[in-house]
Amino acid sequence: MVKIAPSMLSADFSKLAAEIKEIEEAGADLLHIDVMDGHFVPNLTFGAPVVQALRAHTALPFDVHLMVTNPEDYVESFATIGVEYFTFHAEATAHMHRLIQTIKEHGMKAGVSLNPSTPVAVLEDIAADLDMILVMSVNPGFGGQSFIPHAVRKIQKAKNLLEFVGNKDAVVEVDGGVNGKTVEAVRNAGADILVAGSAVFGADDRKAMIHLLRGDK
Ligand code: DX5
Ligand code: ZN
Repeated sequence: MVKIAPSMLSADFSKLAAEIKEIEEAGADLLHIDVMDGHFVPNLTFGAPVVQALRAHTALPFDVHLMVTNPEDYVESFATIGVEYFTFHAEATAHMHRLIQTIKEHGMKAGVSLNPSTPVAVLEDIAADLDMILVMSVNPGFGGQSFIPHAVRKIQKAKNLLEFVGNKDAVVEVDGGVNGKTVEAVRNAGADILVAGSAVFGADDRKAMIHLLRGDK
């Protein structure tokens, strides 16, 4: 069964704690947290202090997606908060192997995210060390964009790579444009975790949307 990670980027920022409580009660599996620095992507969101403030308000595992340059600089501050996944972009560092080890030493799971133009092949030599491959199905920076169909093939390639290296525990997450129309292709491709921002937070009935995306019977 796939897991649903609503993206906080589409929540009402003036009442974050209440928004998160609501999606937790609606059955979300994780909370996807988009950290943007205004350099790696042309948008700026929130950093460790905001995430820290939310930790006490929910039991949901934090799935932190860092769209930042110098992701190495963020490991320590996020480790102390208590996050499940620390995911950085392959395009943001020359030292993926070293950063993965550092993240794990700090007690977090290590994820690597790929922009639409970055091939799965860049992960070949570190796939055995990873806890997550995050396939971007939009160009990172904003919520509410259209799903790039090519991502479906890429999810399959990411799953195949993990299987090839015998990494049974790692998951494939897909992020961007996941909604009622695109979800079936994404699920069929084998994704384990689906991020959904505008689809969940923009729904009249968030609980029904989470169930629909997960394919609950
Ligand atoms: C985009 C972010 C996504 C975004 C997804 O840069 O990484 O997590 O919130 O939003 P939707 O689901 O609306 O495409
Ligand atoms: Zn994201």
